[in-house]
Amino acid sequence: MTNAIRSAEHGRVLRLNYSGRIIDHLGLQMYQSPVAAVAELVANAWDADADNVKITLPAGLTKAAELTVKDDGNGMSFTECQARFLNVGYGRRGRKSTELSKRKKRRILGRKGIGKFAGFGIAKLVRIETISRENGERTVFEMDILKLRSDEYVNREGTEIDLITYDGPDELRQREHGTTVRLKQLTLSQRREPKTFARSMARRFLLHQTAADFNILVNDEPLPDADELLPVQFSFPVEYRTEERPSGLELSGEWGIEVVRGKHVKWRVRFYHDPIGEEELRGISVFAGGKMVQTPFFFNLSGGLPGQHGQQYISGQIQVDALDEQKADLVAPERQRVDWDHPLASQIERWGQDRLRQLLRLWRSRRGEKREQQLQARLTGFSARLGRLGSREERTVTRAIRRVAQIDTLSQTQFEDLGEAMLTAWEQGRLHDLIDDIAQAEELSADQLVGLLAEAQVLTALNTAEAVRTKLLTVGGLKRRIDHQELENAVRDYISEHPWLVSPKWETFAIESGVKAVIDNALSESGIAVDNDFKGRVDLTLSSGEHLLVLEFMRPGLKLDWDHVNRFDRYVRLIRTNLRSNTGGTFRRVTGYIVADQLQGKADLADRIVAMENDDMFALDWPTLFSNAISQWQDFLVILAGRDPQDERLKGLIAD
Ligand SMILES: Nc1ncnc2c1ncn2[C@@H]1O[C@H](COP(=O)(O)OP(=O)(O)O)[C@@H](O)[C@H]1O
Ligand SMILES: [Mg+2]
Repeated sequence: MTNAIRSAEHGRVLRLNYSGRIIDHLGLQMYQSPVAAVAELVANAWDADADNVKITLPAGLTKAAELTVKDDGNGMSFTECQARFLNVGYGRRGRKSTELSKRKKRRILGRKGIGKFAGFGIAKLVRIETISRENGERTVFEMDILKLRSDEYVNREGTEIDLITYDGPDELRQREHGTTVRLKQLTLSQRREPKTFARSMARRFLLHQTAADFNILVNDEPLPDADELLPVQFSFPVEYRTEERPSGLELSGEWGIEVVRGKHVKWRVRFYHDPIGEEELRGISVFAGGKMVQTPFFFNLSGGLPGQHGQQYISGQIQVDALDEQKADLVAPERQRVDWDHPLASQIERWGQDRLRQLLRLWRSRRGEKREQQLQARLTGFSARLGRLGSREERTVTRAIRRVAQIDTLSQTQFEDLGEAMLTAWEQGRLHDLIDDIAQAEELSADQLVGLLAEAQVLTALNTAEAVRTKLLTVGGLKRRIDHQELENAVRDYISEHPWLVSPKWETFAIESGVKAVIDNALSESGIAVDNDFKGRVDLTLSSGEHLLVLEFMRPGLKLDWDHVNRFDRYVRLIRTNLRSNTGGTFRRVTGYIVADQLQGKADLADRIVAMENDDMFALDWPTLFSNAISQWQDFLVILAGRDPQDERLKGLIAD
């Protein structure tokens, strides 16, 4: 039969208002898995306010095999088939993500206007049978991908579609409303186990099922249970500890039964591991007489609740049949909203608010405990370290870590980093007061924590700054001392142990004894070893990483002259070349200092000394050395104070 004959029979024509070829461009490869393809059809059933969707998988991969998706939704009138189904991109532009379905006010899943073609991902032929809820019209049509493809987009009206049956409006037939999509001439290369298929399907529509009256059957079997798929972290009332249990609560399996104003309320609230992606599926739904009467909500509680982040993880149901038995029409099943102003409803609402507040609080502390347990497990590695803290301190640190663990908005990684930092900070004797504060805080919000951390940064800066100031005072003291008299050898010895006195740069340097042979060799070759002027000097070798620092402190009372400088220059070069020829050596940089009470005030020597600095060799007198050290330490202080320019304590440190 040709299209023309078909159309003539019904006196009606259906057209795809696009070239069939467009379908190839719609990204059907996305739908080449049967789950993805069928999921689009199930989504359409949801959007069409269906209560039930029945998926029948092909029994085998024979030519006659079919996959069908049958829903009892609103169906489509003939006009709708044309205007919506066969109109690619119908109404897309203006559609908002907040659009709700006609009757059940569900959040619409459709958007792109191509879902109906998803069937072509796995089938060559797609047949639609639909009965309109509004007028009982019955329309059956078929789309053949090969035909659509071969059709040139010749006329403006588009490609004609095979209309198989059209039955006009019929009041009786209205009751049979719904749509069946039959996928034929399947292009599947292997058959899916119904169980596996159901599991994947469940993963996509699980919450739609539990949060609304929407049932999906695969080969007449319901989808697998929630727990298997979305890991539940806490389920109440099962999770209650004795002291948390509301009085009068009875358990029935996973459900709790309570009596509110003489009416039975059956409930179960689960918190999932991860936030529930779709906002409209979060919350507690209410059922009465087996029907959903209220889509998921939070008992009209508004913000500022302790543990309110838990709302993203919640999916729960309560059953109150009494709501359905009231004379007053307090449930509007189509709208799925209860009239909460009604006296009975408002009692239930208040009860629900109480429970919800409590559960959100419990969710938060339970999660905190969980995290703490994880942390404790990690802490076993530190147990010796923690043990050394003493029991009172250990308790403080643990309490502080628990507080931080309870901050809902911290990710696991952020939390672990913080916990680690807190332990280390405590061990290093820093930030005790801060960690104490955290431990004492009854509740800690992310904002407060950020405040405390900013404080921590200031405190770290302050601590460092205080240390810097102490050092500055010490250097200053030394400088005053040499301004008046020569530096005794004992002081030089002291400097060798505290090289930061020379400059903050050398703070991390430690005495290096591994290169003694090289040094001795350079000393004798440069003549320093036998030079009388160098007798009574202090030599010092320090290192940090690949960097070697050699310091020569001249005998007190000596003026540095050309000869000293030359020998020193040679000495440093000898060390460098010796180290370089020693291939196993780790040092790549050698810096030299020669320090005397005074420098000979000759211009040519001063010029030489400046030139040597480019070569990482420094000749200077004690006052200059200490002035340099002081100004560098002061710069350091200014930098520290800059960590928080507003902080009075830091400002105070540089002021005096
Ligand atoms: N099972 C169905 N029941 C009723 N109407 C449907 C069904 N499937 C599709 N439709 C209609 O066809 C339109 C196009 O569907 P689709 O291509 O999936 O795009 P979208 O879902 O983005 O709107 C839908 O908006 C709807 O009006
Ligand atoms: Mg769709």
